[in-house]
Amino acid sequence: MAFDVNKIRADFPILEREVNRRKLVYFDSGATAQKPLSVINLTDKLYREYNANIHRGVHHLSGQMTDMYEAARERVRGFIGAECREEVIFTAGATASINLVAYAWSEKFLHEGDNIVVSEMEHHSNIVPWQLACERKGAELRVLPFDDSGTLRSDILDSLVDQRTKMVAVTEASNTLGTCPNLEPIIAKAHSVGAHVMVDGCQGIVHGGGRVAERGYDFYAFSGHKLYGPTGIGVLYGRRELLEAMPPFMGGGDMVDKVTFAKTTYAPLPLKFEAGTSNFIGAVGLAEAINYVESIGLENIEMHERELLNAMTERLSLIEGLRIYGTTDNKCPIVSFTIDGTHPYDVGMILDKLGVAIRTGHHCAEPVMTHYGVTGMCRASIGMYNTLEEVEVLAKGIERAVSMLR
Ligand code: ALA
Repeated sequence: MAFDVNKIRADFPILEREVNRRKLVYFDSGATAQKPLSVINLTDKLYREYNANIHRGVHHLSGQMTDMYEAARERVRGFIGAECREEVIFTAGATASINLVAYAWSEKFLHEGDNIVVSEMEHHSNIVPWQLACERKGAELRVLPFDDSGTLRSDILDSLVDQRTKMVAVTEASNTLGTCPNLEPIIAKAHSVGAHVMVDGCQGIVHGGGRVAERGYDFYAFSGHKLYGPTGIGVLYGRRELLEAMPPFMGGGDMVDKVTFAKTTYAPLPLKFEAGTSNFIGAVGLAEAINYVESIGLENIEMHERELLNAMTERLSLIEGLRIYGTTDNKCPIVSFTIDGTHPYDVGMILDKLGVAIRTGHHCAEPVMTHYGVTGMCRASIGMYNTLEEVEVLAKGIERAVSMLR
């Protein structure tokens, strides 16, 4: 199918709205992507006609909803390239997924004197859970740095990863720098010492990520809402033998086999890690989002977004005093920047007055800010529905902000 951005835009009702009496220009898809009508309509239909708790009733609606939920799991399994349904756990989001692993995995696999390696460009969600695990277990947190272009320093892996390394946690695509690190040498090094690898796929899943089994990921996490799906639903992939070996994370309904006051036994995977009522409507909505993305074609989306990324990089570079952070070739469509003599919040506020939505602040990646000696950045992140005209609106808006602020 040929990529027709206007046709795609018509699928996203929010793009019709105005903000501050200007047509909305949405460059914050890295924070959350907008939702196509098919996802909105299906979610609405499920609440109106199908709502019933899953795995819990013999009645008709419960059976139908359970079937849809499990079909959604199969849809996700195929999309990320996992080998079996047992390896796909539905969670509330990527943060919940990583915390699940950091807690339950470390109970089994992390001991005093061990170490965990995280990269310097991680989102807080792929740092803090590991810090907590290290504190609990008396392990050490080590950091794999990046250079000023935003490239991970894989050349120094040998000095960081040793026989006591049990986990390497790394992003598939940095939410701030856009960098898509070459994970191959990192995974190979981790596996050579018997360590496991947790890949944060939040930004990556939207930009060519996944293929988890083929790429040798041990764990993989992403959120539905960045993939044009509903909020409050996420996925954890884990290699089956690791998930089998880990104790449960949360206790409650659906994750048990038999409960007595003397002893409880647990449900088999994947339910062992799905305590409580899952966001079953969110899961089905996520599967619909995957249908939508695949109907447009991942390669088509990537080509379009790359064109916009190149245009944005070129155009913003013309603005005097504007510095872009993250200049590697292999980038997802994210442009983070600061402008001499201005504060990111002020730039963001003025852009908002012009109807342009970007993210400002530390982007939940304070170590990246520390690396460059800044307290915050502006970030424009591109979705499949953005256009070249919008890139120009953004650039003109920045120029206007600069002239007002300097
Ligand atoms: N992690 C999201 C972002 O990068 C919220 O904006």
